[in-house]
Amino acid sequence: GLMRELKGIDVLELELKHRLGIKKVIIVPGNADESPFVKSELGKAAAACMKKLLQGENIIAITGGSTMAAVAEKLTPETEEKKLLFVPARGGIGEDVQNQANTICAIMARNTNGKHRVFYVPDQVSTEIYQSLIKEPDIEENLHLIKSANMILHGIGDAITMAKRRKSTPELLSRLADNQAVGEAFGYYFNEAGEIVHKVLTLGIQLEDLEDIPHVLAVAGGASKAKAIKAYMKKAPASTILITDEGAAEWLIKG
Ligand code: G3H
Repeated sequence: GLMRELKGIDVLELELKHRLGIKKVIIVPGNADESPFVKSELGKAAAACMKKLLQGENIIAITGGSTMAAVAEKLTPETEEKKLLFVPARGGIGEDVQNQANTICAIMARNTNGKHRVFYVPDQVSTEIYQSLIKEPDIEENLHLIKSANMILHGIGDAITMAKRRKSTPELLSRLADNQAVGEAFGYYFNEAGEIVHKVLTLGIQLEDLEDIPHVLAVAGGASKAKAIKAYMKKAPASTILITDEGAAEWLIKG
């Protein structure tokens, strides 16, 4: 794009990192909204970044979504010295199978010679069910693993797109619109100021847990996600590494 010709992409990465107040930004060329190839390039960049950061024994928490699925496709075999355990960061039943964290973890484990856990619980639960499920030994063990993760890899979504994809009720959809929700990550919905306007009661990672995780990788691209990225980054831990594309980055730099 034009920005790339005027300024080197490395200059844009530094500018955006300062603007968002996070650890690092990686920008791939193009706009994921316009071409599936760009989403796959996001996956490739994220996979390369993971490979560099992972040493020794690792527990890696993963969320769902098509971008996470693109990362999984690009992971390659690791040597025996690296022990990788992929754990779904939250219960993910409700999404299409290929977008569920369980499926993505299985593919990541297969592609890296790693291991994975399954976390078969609904993404959204009632308070009552939640209270009884967290006492189940398997679930408790998974929640413990998630909390001891040294890396989390997650997507960021446009609020309304995600709410519709999760077949949210008309009441929730109108509440999100009324509260001007623009972004979504981990079941939290954010307005432009980065305030949480809604949170899905979910088993698994909570926003405050991110502070204790050394490596936080957010992967999201496409101009249509720019507002969502900007909103979420107001709450994101300073340790966050954002892997995005020019489509989102150009808007984020201008805005
Ligand atoms: O929470 C965000 C979504 O998981 C993003 O999904 O990668 O399919 O856009 P996506």
